[in-house]
Parts: sequence; structure tokens; C-alpha cells
Amino acid sequence: MTTGACAAIILAAGMGTRMESDLPKVLHPIANRPMISYIRSELDVISPDHIVAVLAPGMDAVADAVAPADIAIQTEALGTGHAVLAAREAMEGFDGDILIVFGDTPLLRAKTIKEMLSALGAADNPAAVVLGFRPDNTAEYGRLVTESGAGLTGIVEAKDATEEQKNIELCNAGVMAVDGKLLFPLLDAIGSENVTGEYYLTEIIQIARERGLHCAVVEVADPAEVIGVNNREQLAEAEAVIQDRLRRAAMENGVSMIDPDTVWFSADTKIGRDVSIAPNVYFGLGVTIADNVQIRSFCHIEEAEISSGAIIGPFARLRPGTRLEKGVSIGNFVEIKSAVVEEGAKINHLSYIGDAWIGSRANIGAGTITCNYDGFFKHKTDIGPGAFIGSNTALVAPVKIGEGAIVGAGSVVISDVEADALSIARSRQKNIDGSAVSFREKRLAQKDVAKKD
Ligand code: UD1
Ligand code: MG
Repeated sequence: MTTGACAAIILAAGMGTRMESDLPKVLHPIANRPMISYIRSELDVISPDHIVAVLAPGMDAVADAVAPADIAIQTEALGTGHAVLAAREAMEGFDGDILIVFGDTPLLRAKTIKEMLSALGAADNPAAVVLGFRPDNTAEYGRLVTESGAGLTGIVEAKDATEEQKNIELCNAGVMAVDGKLLFPLLDAIGSENVTGEYYLTEIIQIARERGLHCAVVEVADPAEVIGVNNREQLAEAEAVIQDRLRRAAMENGVSMIDPDTVWFSADTKIGRDVSIAPNVYFGLGVTIADNVQIRSFCHIEEAEISSGAIIGPFARLRPGTRLEKGVSIGNFVEIKSAVVEEGAKINHLSYIGDAWIGSRANIGAGTITCNYDGFFKHKTDIGPGAFIGSNTALVAPVKIGEGAIVGAGSVVISDVEADALSIARSRQKNIDGSAVSFREKRLAQKDVAKKD
């Protein structure tokens, strides 16, 4: 790595037209985190002295996603070279190394950036170092033209390449490290005489060569690191790479998955040791899981905190505001939202628990529903420790069930139940001896008459 100062420019003003979206391209999420925040985090690892993000007017949400960074506005998207020129003022007086990265290249690792900076500081003193890679599909990428002995002599965009140049396998990943004293003077010389009429950043390589300067390539070992996201297909490719990284990290930290490819994490999912996750589980944002938790198949979990020893699923849905304490058991077809379930409580089958507090060791029977919404407002249900709620009970909130109380199956509970009370809120059963016989005879006679007619 160079010992000198380093600044980074993140380009993100492009319209991302190939995404066919109203959302700026760099905000499209990967593992539920905006694409651009990945490169921003990697920059934190190398901690540049200065970070400037080049955005289009009105991209306030992108500015939030790259904070803290200075913002430079490119009023019209006239190409990557034009975009870097928009950062000129923000870079005024800076003559250290300038790193240029793209907001749409989210998988780049800090280690690779460091290699580029060290190549820029190498004894042969290049004016610019470009990151190269050999993708399986070269179609979208600029080709790196090299000459033996002369290093990198130019970059030809795919759209401008001759048939012969299209055969070049070494492509431009888009990342450049440039001598800060040379970057803007080189950019001043670029034009827009190409197929698209854009001002290409890539043109500075040829201009540098014309000025007798030397440029170099650092080739990235893993092409997946530099996937450029221009369309939804590449977005899905990037998602697959990030998911792979998240799965590996989880396994390294003590999580078992019998089929990791079917477990989907968010970038911020936190999981402890000795956690097992069965196939087909999805983690949305804001999930924290302690040690020794079992997540069985087909669970959907978001903004939830799960304490040690809990068993979740199969087929459980934990929605925002769920907190499960130690040893809680949540079974199949149970949905929980804005609820705290205290230690050892069980909600094992077919229930909806929303806006509720469930005391420790309470047992919530199959089919219990907290009726938390009256069509206008949400109301709370409180269930005391050790309470037993019989199957198919509707708890019409606001309502409180005291500690140790028992509610009979099939109840519709509309008023509070005292601690240790037994509540049965359903119509009384009536049995009439022999009545089934007379009922059958009557019906059979009616059937006979109907046949004769
Ligand atoms: C660019 C490179 C290409 C490289 C590829 C790698 C150029 C001319 N081409 O092509 O050689 O192989 O990346 O992924 O540099 N942007 C702006 N303002 C603009 C145009 C673009 O800020 O006026 C930003 C975009 O938001 C994006 C980045 O620059 O984050 C790259 O732009 P994009 O249009 O995706 O370039 P590519 O066609 O992918
Ligand atoms: Mg691109």
C-alpha cells in the first residue's frame, strides 16, 4: 500500500436504465441492503482520507446510503469520465492517490483495493492502475488492451470494440487507482467521439500512453468480486455471491445447515453458535439469534430477537417486534408480531399472536388467536406466567389472562381472567339421549316420500 494520502470517488449518478426501475440502480438491495452500501463499507476498511460520491440531482436516498461522504452532483449523466470531473471541486488541492470505484460493483473487497493502491505505488510508477478480470460472459464489459513490454495501452468499450478486440478476455472491472496529480489533467483531454457519445473515464489510459505515461493492470483472482450490476439478471448474480459469503460466514461461526443454498440471510443477520437451520428458511432485516437455537424448515423471520434454546418452526412466521426468550417453542403455522414471549412458553400450532406479552411457561393451545385489531386501533393481550389457553380460543384485545389461569378450548374471551381462575367462554353443550335415532327415522321417511314423487 502506498504511504501517501488516498481519496476515493464513488460513481453512482448513472440512471441505471437497464434495470427498468424507478429506484436508482445503486439502491437496489442485495441481501436487503442497498447495493452501494457494500462498496462504502469496504472503503471503511482502507479508510481513505476523503470520500466523494458522485450522484445525480435529487438522489437524496443514495446520499443517505453512502454517508458519511461528500456529495458531488453530476447534473447530466454524460459518462463515467464526465462523472469523475464532477468531483473535481470536491478534490481541489488533493494530490495523493485517487481511487475510483463504481456504486454498481458491490462485491469488490478491500483486499483487492489495497493491491491496486500498492501497484500504484510500485517502482515502475504507473499513472493509473486498472482492475482487470476474466468474466465468463464478456459481453457488457470494456476490454483491456495490453502490449507486451508496454503494459496497459487502452480500454475499448464493448460497444466500440472491433471483432478482434471483442475476443480479448481481459475486461475492465471499472475500478481504477490514479495518481491524483494526473487524474484531472488527463480527464481534461477526453472527448465523446464514440458510439454512445459519452465521456468515458476509460479513455484516460490511451491519453496517458500518448503522453508517455505508463499504466498497469491488477488482475482480480475471483471474477465474482467485480460483477457489474446493470440489469436484474446481474443483480441476481450479485445476490447469489453475497448469499454464498453470508452462508460461509455463518458456518464458520458455528451454524449448521444441511442445505445452505436454500437458506437466505440479510446482510445484518446475527447468529450465535450451535444454531441449526433446516432447509428453506428466510431471514429478513434485523434478526438476532442466540446460541443453541433450532430453526426448522420453511420459516420466515424478520426484525426478531430469538434467545438461546428456542425451537422455531417448521412453517413459522416471526414478524417485526418479536422477542422470544430462552427455551421458547414456536411450532407450525404460528405467526407472531410485536410480541414478547417469555422463557419456556409454548405456542406450538396454528396461532396468531400479535401485540401481546406471553408470560413464562404459558401454554398457548392450537388455533389461539389474539384479536388485536378492531378495524381502527391495535390493542394488547397479556397472558400471565404459567397460564393455559385451550385450543381454538379467540382473545379479544385489550384483555389480560392472569398468572396460572386456564381458558377452556373454543372460548371467545372478551374480559380479563383473574390469576388461577378457570374461564370457559362458549355456549354450554347439550346432549339429548336417543334423539339421534328419532332424527334419523324422520329424515329417512322424508327421503322415501321424495323418491315416490
Ligand atoms: C463501465 C466501464 C466498462 C467496465 C464496466 C465494469 C466506462 C466507460 N465503462 O461500463 O469499461 O467494463 O463499467 O462494470 O467507464 N455513472 C455516473 N455517471 C455517468 C455514467 C455512469 O455516475 O454519467 C456511474 C454509474 O452510476 C455506475 C458507474 O458509473 O455506478 C458505471 O456506469 P455504467 O453505465 O454502469 O458503466 P458500464 O456500461 O457498466
Ligand atoms: Mg455498470
